Amino acid sequence: MEEYQAAKEELKRTVDIVELISQFVQLKRGGQNHMGLCPFHSEKDPSFTVSQTKQMFHCFGCKKGGDVFAFWMEYHKVSFPEAMRDLAEKYNITLPQKQMTSLEKEKMTLKTRIFKINEAAATYFHHILTKTNDGKPGREYLAKRSIPKEVISEFRLGYAPEKWDGLIKFLKQKKLDMDTAEKAGLIIPNKKGDYYDRFRGRVIFPIDDLRQQIVGFGGRVLDDSLPKYLNTPETPVFHKGELLFGLHAALQAIRESGRVVIVEGYTDALALNMHEFKEVVATLGTALTDNHIRALKGYAKEAVVVFDPDSAGKTAAMKSLSAFLNEGLASKVMILPEGDDPDSFVNKHGLDGFVRLLRQSVPMFDFFLDMKLSQGGDQIEGKVRALEDILPILSQLKNEALRSYYIRHLAEKLNITESAVVIELKKWGTTPSYKSHVQGSREARSNSSVRNQDDQYFMNLLIHHPQIIDRLMNQDLKVILSDPMIKEIFDTMITIYHTEGEISPAGILEKLEKDPVRERFREAMMTPPIFSNDMVEQAVNGLESKVHKIKMAESSIRARQQGDLERANKILEQKRTRENQVL
Ligand code: CTP
Ligand code: MN
Repeated sequence: MEEYQAAKEELKRTVDIVELISQFVQLKRGGQNHMGLCPFHSEKDPSFTVSQTKQMFHCFGCKKGGDVFAFWMEYHKVSFPEAMRDLAEKYNITLPQKQMTSLEKEKMTLKTRIFKINEAAATYFHHILTKTNDGKPGREYLAKRSIPKEVISEFRLGYAPEKWDGLIKFLKQKKLDMDTAEKAGLIIPNKKGDYYDRFRGRVIFPIDDLRQQIVGFGGRVLDDSLPKYLNTPETPVFHKGELLFGLHAALQAIRESGRVVIVEGYTDALALNMHEFKEVVATLGTALTDNHIRALKGYAKEAVVVFDPDSAGKTAAMKSLSAFLNEGLASKVMILPEGDDPDSFVNKHGLDGFVRLLRQSVPMFDFFLDMKLSQGGDQIEGKVRALEDILPILSQLKNEALRSYYIRHLAEKLNITESAVVIELKKWGTTPSYKSHVQGSREARSNSSVRNQDDQYFMNLLIHHPQIIDRLMNQDLKVILSDPMIKEIFDTMITIYHTEGEISPAGILEKLEKDPVRERFREAMMTPPIFSNDMVEQAVNGLESKVHKIKMAESSIRARQQGDLERANKILEQKRTRENQVL
């Protein structure tokens, strides 16, 4: 265990939290910290904060935070040992072998077992497709769709042969257990208490996550039979509505261009890849969700949603507009000619044709607006109806310039005055999502103004000015603290100080047990210093004299209660003189 602990420490020294998190969240330097849009909750103003000096992150919105391990666990939804293993691998640090195997055995969660069995299955399908006679129908199919060898190997495409137990035999031979294979959705129990393969006679598209682990598969029939696609069912690691096919492969290209193109189908993403267009991901035919967009905004500055012009596709794409606005990711739409999908289009017109059309993509909001306006018709009733659809969305636009641009645009199109639009818009000042956002921040603001200023000063001095820590370790100081959480922090700090003789913010954080208290402390750690170095002395004096005042008042009251009026007055007198001195 000691070795394991040592490896953990080594990882902590090696991994830089800003560098690590930058791989998943776009961070900008802001003062002492780095800021970005939180990957753990919806927001359009950055409250996600990363500190290089403290090697810590904290979101002032949702309060999630911690060190590199905490980030990895939360972002990838994994356990601590898994986070250790991932980071060790990523940063080339050897974990103690023996420890890890026993630990792995013990802690190998169902998820980990599913990943392992999916990996084996992907190897099997890929082998069948590329190396065997059984794979011939698959090879012919992919050739017909002009998907080249390079794409087949980069995406590890496969083929599931027309057999009931092809995969089962392979897994048994590898000594992998059937129970896990069933939970992974690879095999299905039959009535005789045995199993059969889920995927048969289909081309296989493995779907991986950002850790490059295979979460599931899509399988396409070779002819027109139905269902056209069969996917892994919901499993502990496969949630269709959250996945983006090809995200890992596209990451670098997305980061470089700042743009991501979102298509619907596996083959669309592959066809674009085949034409060397890499910044593309596919939803698995589902609507775009907040989850998708939250993941993408970590890499892209702009998303282009491609869809076919049929009205179902349009409506589905439009539903995501709100999510884009809420997450603060700029969105555009690219409209394909009737009857084409990205796959067929790029194969007909080549990359040039695709890029030309891509350049013509329009902001999603413009598209939405024009669509609603044209649906409403020329009659005034229709225009009013269109306005009712548009205003709630318009009210979500954060950028003032953009908002006034659209107000003008809308007024022109409807042939009404801009001020009429503004008046109507005011009524919509609070759509559900907008409202919750505004309320959230208002709450946060009032919360902090309710927070006692002395509490704030105390914490801020403690964290940023360790040279005066001795003076803060004064038991009496507790009388000026009001927040019970801060009092708890104070007590913990005194205990550490007495048992260990030295104290550091990181040390205190480690000892705090309750989550809300830890969050409160982390928040304070991430708050910049309030006092410059030459004001610290004055600030501590201020706190100390408040303590003194309270103490004096208390003893004066006590004296009075004991009937010693003379002493009570004397104390009050002293208090007043001292106050005048301070002033
Ligand atoms: N899809 C699915 N199940 C279906 C149909 C579609 O899961 N029965 C998902 C697949 O992820 C598919 C995407 O929705 O890639 C888009 O569907 P569609 O446009 O019908 O498929 P294409 O990608 O165009 O497939 P192909 O070109 O092979 O016909
Ligand atoms: Mn297609």
